[in-house]
Amino acid sequence: MASQPDFASDVFNRNPAAGIAALRARGHVVEVRFPIVGRVWLTTTHETAAAMLKDSATFSLRKEDGEVAGLRWWMPKSITVVADNMLTMDEPDHTRLRGIVDEAFRRRAVLDMQPHIRTIADRLADELFAAGRPADLIQRYARILPVSVICELLGLPLADRPAFIAWANAMNRLKGPISLLRMMGSLSRMRRYLEQRLQAAREEGGEGLIAELVQVEKERGRITRDEMVAMVFLLLAGGSETTTHLISGSAFELLRDPARRDWLAADWSRLGLAVEEFLRFVSPVQFTKPRYVRREVELGGVTLKKGDRVMAMIAAANIDPDVHESPDRMDLARKPNRHISFGTGIHFCLGHQLARIEAACALEALFVRWPRLRLAVKPEQIRWSGRPGIRSIDKLPVVAGS
Ligand code: HEM
Repeated sequence: MASQPDFASDVFNRNPAAGIAALRARGHVVEVRFPIVGRVWLTTTHETAAAMLKDSATFSLRKEDGEVAGLRWWMPKSITVVADNMLTMDEPDHTRLRGIVDEAFRRRAVLDMQPHIRTIADRLADELFAAGRPADLIQRYARILPVSVICELLGLPLADRPAFIAWANAMNRLKGPISLLRMMGSLSRMRRYLEQRLQAAREEGGEGLIAELVQVEKERGRITRDEMVAMVFLLLAGGSETTTHLISGSAFELLRDPARRDWLAADWSRLGLAVEEFLRFVSPVQFTKPRYVRREVELGGVTLKKGDRVMAMIAAANIDPDVHESPDRMDLARKPNRHISFGTGIHFCLGHQLARIEAACALEALFVRWPRLRLAVKPEQIRWSGRPGIRSIDKLPVVAGS
C-alpha cells in the first residue's frame, strides 16, 4: 500500500493540507489503513464525498446482516447498545428516530436558546482566570460550554458535568488495549447512568428532551428503551466533543493572528460568516463514519466491490480547489462557503444550528470580556492530536494580556 499520513499525529493535524494533497495526488478515492478501522477507501474530493454520503442505499452504515460497522461479537452490551444509534442506522429506522428529535434542534428552537447560551458563555468568560494564570482555554472554557448546553437541553443535572467530561476523555484516548478497557468501563458507567436518568424521568417527569422522549416512549412502537439510551448517548457525545474543538480551533486562529480578531471585534455581525470559515478551516470532524458498499459501484474512477468500506474525508472536501477558491487561505468573509463540516445526506448533523450558535456565542463572549487575550506560548508549541478523525488541540494556555 502507498505511503500515507499518520492521521492521529501532531504533524498531520497541525497542517492537514500537506497530507491531503499527497492523498489526492493518488486519486479521488484511495485505499488507506486507518487506525482502529483497518483497510478502508477514502474520498479525497468534495464531489466524491458528497456523492457517497448522499447515496445511503449504496453506502450503508450497516453490513448486509444488519451488524453495525466496527462492532465485534465479544463486545459487552454497554458498547453494543450505545453503538446501535441513529447515526449507525439506515432507513426506515433512521427516519423514525430522527423524526422524534428533529423538532428540538430546528433553527427556531435553537435561536430561542441563544440568549441563555450567551449567558453561560459570559459567566465562563468571567471565570476564565479564577483558578490562576495562564488558564487552559480548553479545560476552563471550550469544554464546559457545549457540555453545559447539551445537559440543559436534555434535562441532565449540571452537577454531573464533570462525570461526562471524564467519560468523554476516556473514550477519546483510545490508542491501545488498556485504553480500550478504560473506554469500555466509561461506556458502561455512562449507560447505567443514562438508564437511571430515563427511569427517573418516567417516574417523576421533568424538563428537557429526556422527559419528552419518555412521553414518546408511551406511544408504542416509536422508540424502544435501548434506542432511548443510545439516542441520549449520541446527543451527549455528538454535542460536546466536536463543538469543543470548533471553539478551541477557532479561538486559536484568532489568537495567533490578532488582525483577524480586531477585524471581527470591529463588527461582530461578521461572526456568522467567520464561523462558517472556521468550520471549513478547522474541520473538527475530519472523516465520517465508514460506510459499507452494498453493490459494486464506481466512485471517483475506482470500482468498489460489495463489502468494501469507504469513508468521506471531510477535511479534504473542505480544501478541494475545484470548489473553494484559494482553499488554503483563511478568509473570514468567504462567500459562498460550501464546506461539508456537518456531513451531508440523511445523516447531516442534527446539531448544526446549535453548534454554530454555541461557537458564535463562545467567541464573542470571550473576546469581548478579554479583548487583549493572548497565547501564553508560541503557536508552534500548541499540540494538535486527538482521536484519529477528530482534529483537536490538547491544551491552549492563555493570559489576559495588557
Ligand atoms: C452527525 C459534525 C455538533 C449531533 C454529524 C456528522 C458530522 C457531524 C460530520 C455526520 C457523520 C457521518 O455522516 O458519518 C459535527 C460538527 C459539530 C457537530 C463538526 C460541531 C462543530 C453537533 C451537536 C450535536 C450533534 C452540537 C447535538 C447535540 C449529531 C447527531 C448526528 C450528527 C445526532 C447524527 C445525525 C443522523 O444520523 O441523522 N455531526 N457535529 N452534532 N451530529 Fe454533529
